[in-house]
Parts: sequence; C-alpha cells; structure tokens
Amino acid sequence: MISIGVLVSGRGSNLESILDAVDNAYITKGKIKVVISNKPNAPALGIAEKHSVPGIAVDDHGFPKKSWEYDQKAMAALKTHGVTPRDGLVLLAGYMRIVSDQFIDEYHNRIMNVHPALLPSFPGLEAQKQALEHGVKVAGCTVHFAEKTVDAGPIILQAHVPVREDDTIESLSSRILREEHRIYPEAVRLFTEDKLHVDGRRVIIKA
Ligand code: GRF
Repeated sequence: MISIGVLVSGRGSNLESILDAVDNAYITKGKIKVVISNKPNAPALGIAEKHSVPGIAVDDHGFPKKSWEYDQKAMAALKTHGVTPRDGLVLLAGYMRIVSDQFIDEYHNRIMNVHPALLPSFPGLEAQKQALEHGVKVAGCTVHFAEKTVDAGPIILQAHVPVREDDTIESLSSRILREEHRIYPEAVRLFTEDKLHVDGRRVIIKA
C-alpha cells in the first residue's frame, strides 16, 4: 500500500477526484494519508474533512514562493503521516508554490503534478488563457513527475480536448478540468500498481 500526501492551495477538485477514486476502489493500492494546504482557508481542506482524511494547514504567509525552510515544515507533516521518500507518493493538486530543489531530490520521482496544458506548451500560470490567446486548436492537460524546473518533468499521461471558436477561458478550463479528473487518478493508479518506469525523460507504462 502506497501512502499518499496531497499538497493543495485552493478549490481541491483534483484532490476530490483522487479521493473518489480511492473510495470507489479504482485506486486500491494507495491511500491518502494527509492533505496539506499552504492556505489555511482553502476549500480543499473541507473536501479532505468530508472524506475523513486529515487536513493540515501549513501557512506559508511570509515565506517566498520557493523555500526550503517552508518545505521542511510540509515534509515533516508528510513524514508524520507516513508519506516517506522511500515508499510514499506526493501529489501536487492546484498547489500554488514552487517545490524546492531539496524536496525534489529527497522525493525523487515520487512527486506528481497536474498541469492544465499539453506540456511543454504553456507552462506556468494561466495555461488555459495562454492556449486560447495563442490560438491553438487542441488544448489539454498533463500529469508529470515534478523536477527542479517547473512544469518540465517526465510526462506520465496527457489528454487533449478541442478548442471551440466560441470558447472562453472558463469554458475551455472546464473542458480541460474534466480530463484532469480522469487522468490524474489514472496516473496515481499506475504508480501505486508499480506500472511506471522512468527512463530519462520518458515514462514507460508497463503492461
Ligand atoms: C487545475 O486546473 C490544475 O491543473 C492547476 O490548478 C487547478 C487546480 O484546481 N494546477 P483544483 O484545486 O484541483 O480544483
């Protein structure tokens, strides 16, 4: 059984999709042990509570966006709940901080992120707006392992959606979000079933 910790900052819909996947036994070899939010008032903490999972606020007020000092506090909470660098899994789900190099090194290939664009296009903030403004005809989302460069780690799964002529940022974002809620639990399931093998930049999905 893989112990999972989820780092959040806001709404928590991706968190909920993974909690649901565990509740529905789509994910059977992983359990969410803790949800950690850098924002004490994040709705995601209420979602954790609804699912009877410990939700902890580790307030980042006063810390820079990337901080080893802050990450040590978050990592202590992960470890207290059994999410260890040896056999745990950390999920970034709408987490609006940049993970420090030391955190990435310690949980090497054990931190996943979901990004609302087909990486390597449109990394960073407001990815759906970037895609719409660029005029792409196909948009989508990516689940990848986190590495030191933001939104650049080995890609685990991607899903595409069409961009419509009358799309707004909201309509495109909600079409992409539905796919995030499908592929993030799928990537977690693959990891917990030991079906992911990282070979350089490529993630091989074992049969
Ligand atoms: C998602 O679109 C995710 O891809 C991005 O931030 C958003 C978080 O949404 N990183 P939620 O908090 O999971 O609802």
